Amino acid sequence: MTGPPPTAPTLLSRLTASRTRNRLASSVLPPPYPGMRLTAKRLLNFHLVRYQRARGHTKLLGYPLVVTLEATNVCNLKCPYCFTGAGEVARKRSMMPMPLFQRLMDELGAYMLHLEFYNWGEPLLNKNTPEMIRIASAKGVSTIISTHLSVPMDRSRAETLVSSGLALLGAALDGATQKTYEKYRAGGNLELVLHNLRLLVEAKQRLGSTTPRLCWGYHVFDHNWQEVELARKMASELGVEFSATKGWVAGPEWNDGGQFQFPVGTAPERCRYLWTQGVINNDGGVAPCSATFYREDDFGSVEQTTFKEVWNNDKFRDARRMYRGRLLSQYGKSHVCHDCPYTIIWENYQHHLAQGFPSAKFNPGFTTNDWFNYFFSRRPGHNGAPKAT
Ligand SMILES: C[S@@+](CC[C@H](N)C(=O)[O-])C[C@H]1O[C@@H](n2cnc3c(N)ncnc32)[C@H](O)[C@@H]1O
Ligand code: SF4
Repeated sequence: MTGPPPTAPTLLSRLTASRTRNRLASSVLPPPYPGMRLTAKRLLNFHLVRYQRARGHTKLLGYPLVVTLEATNVCNLKCPYCFTGAGEVARKRSMMPMPLFQRLMDELGAYMLHLEFYNWGEPLLNKNTPEMIRIASAKGVSTIISTHLSVPMDRSRAETLVSSGLALLGAALDGATQKTYEKYRAGGNLELVLHNLRLLVEAKQRLGSTTPRLCWGYHVFDHNWQEVELARKMASELGVEFSATKGWVAGPEWNDGGQFQFPVGTAPERCRYLWTQGVINNDGGVAPCSATFYREDDFGSVEQTTFKEVWNNDKFRDARRMYRGRLLSQYGKSHVCHDCPYTIIWENYQHHLAQGFPSAKFNPGFTTNDWFNYFFSRRPGHNGAPKAT
């Protein structure tokens, strides 16, 4: 139905109303993950998790809102600031077994909002990844992969991926020329990645599909910032989205305070992972967060038990207890969360507030690059310095 254009006061009241609506929605509804179907179960679980995190509870009644699930830890590239790319081995290289995936979906699928199919490997090297995406999407879960896309693909494979229900595909492509691109994505083929992006754009057109959103993700480093604008232009010509974020490096942050930002910051908060995001590796190992790599730092495994049992085991409850005070930890420094910058920031923030200082004056004292380095320099049970430094 059409009508006369709104006059100034009605336009204003509409805007205000929609702003109020938005504010109300953001306090009541979960974040609008693309492709997520909101059900009563998901909404109730969302509020339960949010409440328990706000109270710092250690035994959780709900299920994670977001799940990171490693489709495979195999990768054919050698990115220097990735454990896998740097040649580290944390656990057997394998594909997530389908029966295990199915069992996890049966337990968690009705509650989770969003599922990431990658952690420390290349998800498209698992031939079952499109099928896993299809199963999760059919349950109303928002699905995403980050892929280097330097893999063989044809029209049929592109169509399978497009029709899987995948909501978002991030293509990790950190350069606009082969010479620059391969400095980080060692072993990658820029032409192949661009060809594959084109195949995906065309497959979407052929199938009349609005999904997946295709986004060229550019990690910016000292060696490639000069090509960001060219890459942005190439992405627009291809018809895909573009996002440039600062890349982590081993050692000191490059160009601290410069134009490019990390996608996450270090504001004090109770660790998102420990309360809201489950991380399950290809072998069923459950990690405290996606920054840990080694099996020794896993908190448990879902090979023989349910996720819920691991989620509330000693290691997880100990980690959550550290957000009341690290001295309460029964595992102490051997626990990977004990000296994680986020745990320390939270503790320092509590002292800061207890001394009567205003929240706005708090300085976390760590950057996201410090957080990356804490994990990247950690080698439990593996002697030797990080190979990439
Ligand atoms: C380890 S990768 C695995 C997924 C896939 N192989 C890929 O590279 O996209 C997980 C995520 O880390 C990102 N990543 C890799 N190196 C990075 C760096 N130095 N700084 C920031 N993010 C990085 C990847 O782009 C990806 O989004
Ligand atoms: S492409 Fe991804 S998994 Fe492979 S080495 Fe690079 S960051 Fe690691």
